[in-house]
Amino acid sequence: MTDDVAALFAQREPDRFAMHSRHLNEQMVRVLKTIGYDVGFCRGTGQYLYDREGRRYLDLLSGFGVFAIGRNHPAVRTALKSVLDSDLPNLVQMDVSTLAGVLAERLLAHVPYLDKVFFVNSGSEAVETAIKFARGATGRPGIVYCDHAFHGLSYGALSLNGDEIFRGGFEPLLPDCVRIPFNDLAALEEALRSRNVAAFIAEPIQGKGVNIPSDDYLKTVAELCRRYGTLFVADEIQTGLGRTGRFLAVEHWNVEPDMVLISKSLSGGHVPVGAVLTRRHIFEKIFNRMDRAVVHGSTFAKNDLAMACGIATLDVLKSEGLIENAAQRGEQLLRAFADMKERYELVSDVRGKGLMIGMEFGAPTSFKLKASWNLLEAANKGLFCQLITIPLFKEHQILSQVAGHASHTVKLLPPLVLSPVDCEYIIKAFDGVIAASHRVPGAVWSLGKTLVDHAIRARA
Ligand SMILES: Cc1ncc(COP(=O)(O)O)c(C=O)c1O
Repeated sequence: MTDDVAALFAQREPDRFAMHSRHLNEQMVRVLKTIGYDVGFCRGTGQYLYDREGRRYLDLLSGFGVFAIGRNHPAVRTALKSVLDSDLPNLVQMDVSTLAGVLAERLLAHVPYLDKVFFVNSGSEAVETAIKFARGATGRPGIVYCDHAFHGLSYGALSLNGDEIFRGGFEPLLPDCVRIPFNDLAALEEALRSRNVAAFIAEPIQGKGVNIPSDDYLKTVAELCRRYGTLFVADEIQTGLGRTGRFLAVEHWNVEPDMVLISKSLSGGHVPVGAVLTRRHIFEKIFNRMDRAVVHGSTFAKNDLAMACGIATLDVLKSEGLIENAAQRGEQLLRAFADMKERYELVSDVRGKGLMIGMEFGAPTSFKLKASWNLLEAANKGLFCQLITIPLFKEHQILSQVAGHASHTVKLLPPLVLSPVDCEYIIKAFDGVIAASHRVPGAVWSLGKTLVDHAIRARA
């Protein structure tokens, strides 16, 4: 009997790479070994991870934005234990779930202009639901999406993906999906004019690149959608639940979409869950007769463990003031990063809202740096960011990410429990690594040469 999972973890942890190479994704193991991220994380709590030597790491990745309230939050643990200890009538199916009712009620209290909730198991599933609801409710086929958009990797969601790296090799994708540039109102109006478009879907702040729209964009998007009978779907799967310093990112621009998609943080970092919040008229077009009561659904959606995680997460966001903290800590980091932009020629832009922040690097002007930059770019576009994220990891125990393929932007997506002291630590570490990247020759550019060699060998 495997009843002691922690003991099993400890026993097999040293084999994790071998097991993954043999039975799972070997390429991921190769990537981790190449960049030196093979430290073996053994524990996580709050904003910190601990490796097998007990070394502490600051997690600016949050499992791609899952750990808004931090890892292994005691409130979520208590909620989960309470469900497990209670013999609740989970997933009866020929009944309706009490906990789903409670979570729906509490979510809608944050978004009072929407009326209905449809629960799902992941972000992609929320997107699939939005596509079906939009087509079903409008009777139109078209879905408009943006360049660089990321809405997930299942077929419908992939059809709305704005990057070739994800789409290539999987075509044909869903028909009638039209891509337009992000932040381009003229292109949107042009696309909507046919009145064949069921929905326009966009992330209020794009995850790939941390792209922030101009101030009037989302407001005008909502107006244009209304004018042409198209539904406006805000994908807040990454930006929602306080990440940007507001419950939803659209609140920064006073916009009320027709559907809002959330997931990631709603899980409390434990049980996958997502939700589509919609206007009543959309929902009622889909579930319009008794014989269509289950016309869309998914077996595990609304399961008690997931609902309990969602309820506990909303409680923690409020009781710990995490949305306000995200706004304040974001300002602290952005202020310091803006100062670095003035001081360092390689830093070309700094942008973000709350704790969703991007630092973009760009071609330098000084001769020595330019030659090294060009060499790196010629080998592999976007490789420079690894010269920042790898030293951050190895020398400062900070886990961060590059904001997409071929991107020049390093992205910060930390748990919202980040403290002022954590921020000072991040600022110092970034300053040190960026300063070192301006020294040629130096350790950072030696790493660059190693990465170029790897890139060339990988292609050979
Ligand atoms: C904005 C956005 N939408 C959708 C998704 C897909 O979510 P999932 O990976 O849970 O399917 C993601 C995941 O990163 C996302 O960032």
